Amino acid sequence: MSLKHVIRDLARSIGYEIRRIPDVVRVEAGTSSEQETTTLRDRLALSETMRQIHRRDTIEIEDLLRMVALPDLPKRAGREAQLADLIGTNVCEGLYLVDALHKALRVPGDICEFGVAQGATSQLIASEIMSTDRAFWLFDSFEGLPAPTKEDRLIDDIFDLGSMAKYQGTMMSPETEVLGRLDKVKFPRERLRIMKGWVNESIKRPDVPKQVAFAYVDFDFYEPIKDALHFLDQRMLPGAHAVVDDYGFFSEGAQLAVDEFVAAMDGRWKLSKPLPFAGHFVTLEKLR
Ligand SMILES: C[S@@+](CC[C@H](N)C(=O)[O-])C[C@H]1O[C@@H](n2cnc3c(N)ncnc32)[C@H](O)[C@@H]1O
Repeated sequence: MSLKHVIRDLARSIGYEIRRIPDVVRVEAGTSSEQETTTLRDRLALSETMRQIHRRDTIEIEDLLRMVALPDLPKRAGREAQLADLIGTNVCEGLYLVDALHKALRVPGDICEFGVAQGATSQLIASEIMSTDRAFWLFDSFEGLPAPTKEDRLIDDIFDLGSMAKYQGTMMSPETEVLGRLDKVKFPRERLRIMKGWVNESIKRPDVPKQVAFAYVDFDFYEPIKDALHFLDQRMLPGAHAVVDDYGFFSEGAQLAVDEFVAAMDGRWKLSKPLPFAGHFVTLEKLR
């Protein structure tokens, strides 16, 4: 059995699917395969232990946040697993997202995510709406970020690429990876609507959601965020919510798109910022 098979099987045995074996798992020449397996097993056991610690920390963060900022946040057994598995989204933001989502469930409409990538936040949202009958719409190019526009000035070089132009095509994940994550939490496929393509085109399709109660907008760049927000304004009732990620982070364009939108809506939308440590995002509530 090759080393790669050993790694894959060990990962599978503790519930992970490895698609690409990273270079860091290189084994020195002359090591016996028994030793290799033991070392790998130790490493995987360690990483699983770390995950379990992170899950426990997540439960504590949820309790603390409920005390200081989110008193109405409903409890859900097993939420910590999805919160601990978020990628590039901190646990506090995940909890604010869930809180806004549950507030939005008081009004009719479907649930949308604009900017899905590998589906980590999709998995969290899907788990939260499992007991409802709402459809879940996922908008993504599945080709990664588009070319930035002049509004997208780089403020945090998150991947150390040196310029905003080099971010085009990054953050790409295949649709199958997203579906895999949603299958893992047993979200019914018949309630899933995958809107593959560039958002400025997909929002013009005839089969878009008629009414939206909640949206997570995580497109990073100015133009797509602007497009998503104007689309939502047409389809949301008072009481509906949107959480927009990357406000004041990575690209200047995200904050600009939100601020311009709120100003243009003339008091019809309320913007709320989280506590300073909670992350770079804002919550928008439609008032009228
Ligand atoms: C930051 S990632 C989303 C991360 C995800 N919400 C999470 O936290 O797990 C941004 C995603 O937006 C998508 N995207 C960016 N601009 C887009 C556009 N104009 N149209 C469609 N998809 C776009 C990219 O393909 C990428 O998957």
